[in-house]
Amino acid sequence: MRIGILTGGGDCPGLNAAIRAIVRTCLDGHGSSVVGFHDGWRGLLENSWREMASGSRVDRILSRGGTILGTARVNPDRLTAGLDTIHQNLADNGIDALIPIGGEGTLTAAKWLSDEGVPVVGVPKTIDNDIGGTDYTFGFDTAVSIATDAIDRLHTTAESHRRVMLVEVMGRHAGWIALDAGMATGAHFIAVPERPFDIEEICALISSRFERGDKHVIGVIAEGSAPAAGTMDLRDGGVDEYGHELFTGVAAQMATQIERRTGAEVRTTVLGYVQRGGTPTPFDRILATRLGARAAEAVHRGEFGQMVALRGTEIAMVPLSEAVRELRRVPPARYDEAAAFFG
Ligand code: F6P
Repeated sequence: MRIGILTGGGDCPGLNAAIRAIVRTCLDGHGSSVVGFHDGWRGLLENSWREMASGSRVDRILSRGGTILGTARVNPDRLTAGLDTIHQNLADNGIDALIPIGGEGTLTAAKWLSDEGVPVVGVPKTIDNDIGGTDYTFGFDTAVSIATDAIDRLHTTAESHRRVMLVEVMGRHAGWIALDAGMATGAHFIAVPERPFDIEEICALISSRFERGDKHVIGVIAEGSAPAAGTMDLRDGGVDEYGHELFTGVAAQMATQIERRTGAEVRTTVLGYVQRGGTPTPFDRILATRLGARAAEAVHRGEFGQMVALRGTEIAMVPLSEAVRELRRVPPARYDEAAAFFG
């Protein structure tokens, strides 16, 4: 067989481990060939690709962050308008099946292409951990490790200065990074998109900590968090060219309110893209390797229209339609588990 692979959407640690696993399983395990499209769907639309080789070159990428193939966000309209070009490029290059590695946007496009008759097996990835049908996505464990290390450090400087430290982490629609990094570091409160926050409650928590003699407060805030209706105004950032909501800095706006309402000294740290860069953790390397290898097997078994997934400790196949039906968000019970330690 001849198999096309691409990495789409925001990058994350573990993508190269998945690429290596797919290439090695296809080439060494099945005697197939692999074409790597550059910059996500753009490479498929513009017929930009390279022939992937096995051996030491691909082996050395296992521990490297980012993606050697490059990635890009592509407007879904551009993709649908390019369907004929995609079919042509696949045919011209003799490609029998496609393995797109990506998050919600990439997997939604993969499902659409599959419905349009392209043999597809999807591989989920994202630091946000918000893909349906799988218990975890690779990239998430690394992001939580980076955030945990940063928040541990912020505890000590906040304590020294008797400050409130707000740490904004990634998470547009799902607060998994905030939840796990917040729990791991004993955050005094956590805000996630799934649970609108009440600024009055947060201010009361802060005041009571200082009144009883505690020296600092750490709040971990997912970037997509929003106040409960009627409690605080949050600036609207509109949407970008891909239809993604543009954020306006929820932690900074929260900080202004807290200073005004409590008189406490507040500092804000936005972790940003550092969460997505650099070396993947062992967990992410192993998960990406297992998912990549299973995706390559699935292609050779003709298990198309599906996505590889982690279910418990096993790698399973789930229909792409199930994977993209809805985002996997923090359930109320998981948030309440963390909230039991607030204050
Ligand atoms: O990969 C997901 C994500 O990290 C979100 O949490 C974040 O809001 C977004 O990507 C940023 O993406 P971009 O690279 O387009 O700025």
